Amino acid sequence: MNVSEALKTRVSANAFDTKAQLSTEQITELVELASEAPSSFNTQNWHVIAITDPEVRKKIRAAAWDQAKVTDSAVLFAVLGSTKVVNKLSESMELATSAGVVNNEIKDWFETNAAKFYDDQPQLCRDEALRSSSYLAMSLMLAGQEKGYGSGPMIGFDSSEVEKILKVPEHFVVSVLISMGPLATEGNWNRKPRRKNIISFNTY
Ligand SMILES: Cc1cc2nc3c(=O)[nH]c(=O)nc-3n(C[C@H](O)[C@H](O)[C@H](O)COP(=O)(O)O)c2cc1C
Repeated sequence: MNVSEALKTRVSANAFDTKAQLSTEQITELVELASEAPSSFNTQNWHVIAITDPEVRKKIRAAAWDQAKVTDSAVLFAVLGSTKVVNKLSESMELATSAGVVNNEIKDWFETNAAKFYDDQPQLCRDEALRSSSYLAMSLMLAGQEKGYGSGPMIGFDSSEVEKILKVPEHFVVSVLISMGPLATEGNWNRKPRRKNIISFNTY
């Protein structure tokens, strides 16, 4: 499946095969593919919690409008973005220098300028937590699509309750929950057509 096909076949699924399971390796591969997503200054200011424990999922479902897909899919992902945007930047850049992709001068430039850009900017930091993790979230759904899994993104949940259940550190925001796995044979909608008039050139 190429990217165009993945984009054109993905739907937000509601009905999952409740018997299906994904192995730790399969789940890990999906998250690793998703982490190929870009992030501001290469901060990679994200984290993914893969939730497979039925008891935990029951609790999340109660905090997520009782949406059946929270418990019914093979795996439930919580995609988190960090508001301490530059916290892990040196680690991310270290990987890039070790791989010979950038030199130390560029590494220093990224680290210095990212730190300046986000310093004392709580709104921008929160925006960045949501923005970069959203790129990861969409990448995760496309990776799943290629593997033949359906996905269902959700913002219909009580975030403070979900953060408590998942023991999310204070500087993370739960960007989105995503149910993923093989779909049920019935119960899902077809693709919803898209509006076409969303583009203008050069100015609004
Ligand atoms: C950020 C975000 C949050 C969403 N939250 C929910 C949700 O809580 N429950 C749900 O059933 N669908 C949710 N959706 C799915 C949307 O309703 C769906 O993407 C939209 O209707 C378009 O349908 P499609 O994805 O099948 O093309 C969400 C989608 C996004 C991108």
